[in-house]
Amino acid sequence: MKPTVVVYNRLYEEALEYIRASCEVVYFTNYKENMPEFEKALKEADGLIGTRLKVDEALLDQAPHLKVIANKSVGYDNLDIPLIKKRGILAANTPGVLDDTVADTIVALMLAAARRVPELDQFVKTGGWTEKGFKDHQFGLDVHHKTLGIIGMGGIGSTLAKRARFGFDMNILYHNRSRNKQAENTYDAVYCQMDELLERSDFVCVMTPLTPETKGLIGKKEFSQMKETAVFINASRGAVVDETALIEALQSNRIWAAGLDVFEQEPVERDNPLLSMPNVVTLPHIGSATEETRKKMAMLAAENVVAGVTGRELKTPIF
Ligand code: GLV
Repeated sequence: MKPTVVVYNRLYEEALEYIRASCEVVYFTNYKENMPEFEKALKEADGLIGTRLKVDEALLDQAPHLKVIANKSVGYDNLDIPLIKKRGILAANTPGVLDDTVADTIVALMLAAARRVPELDQFVKTGGWTEKGFKDHQFGLDVHHKTLGIIGMGGIGSTLAKRARFGFDMNILYHNRSRNKQAENTYDAVYCQMDELLERSDFVCVMTPLTPETKGLIGKKEFSQMKETAVFINASRGAVVDETALIEALQSNRIWAAGLDVFEQEPVERDNPLLSMPNVVTLPHIGSATEETRKKMAMLAAENVVAGVTGRELKTPIF
């Protein structure tokens, strides 16, 4: 009998075909719209593939045959890893294939926030650009030759460092659990403690995964240590930042601007004060969202799930 794989959100046809070649597929383009069927499918599932489903004790209790969970994302804060391990289930994510695309998104946020691209785009489109011209107070900040502080120097962090160093002649500071010699040797990245990084950086970019240790990592104290001209970028997970502290730091001009791909609550609430600040550039959590990269992520996740249900080694295991 073929193993059963539950696909719990939209997946590219190529990846679905790959799984179907060796497995029975139960496909939900949006599991939330069909919870009774989804729960029924879990009872038979050997493999589970998708993005952002909270996998906790309650869910695992409904999936007694589960052998592997393949996240179609690099982040895996949706998974209770200690519990998954304890139950002898395998888990995989999709590192590497999205590094360039996410680094591009971060550069876009840095440039957009520093050079006030969305604000000035609106200025032009709403008829503000007249013969009277453009005011000094609409000027932005340079990105080139500035100091970029990267908190979390993994694959995406070092891909960003490469762009910043060679594309924009930036100086790179970083803070990480362990030293990243490759980034130090190749991009002249300088390891430093958080305090020093926050005080010296013109751009502060958070790239840490969300874990119990990194939840609320950047709060009131950290914003108070940044330069008044600092541009803060978050493309990791909203909960790594204390959003109330971020709002206060922006409202009181403690920092200059922010570029955000992620929020504490997603989709972001319509009345979130961040949405009405002209110096905040927002994106709807689309760091890796290009056609090419999302296809690669889907294929890698599909390869992981098939490997897991057929007793082969996962390509990119989490543990
Ligand atoms: C996106 O946020 C990811 O973790 O891949």
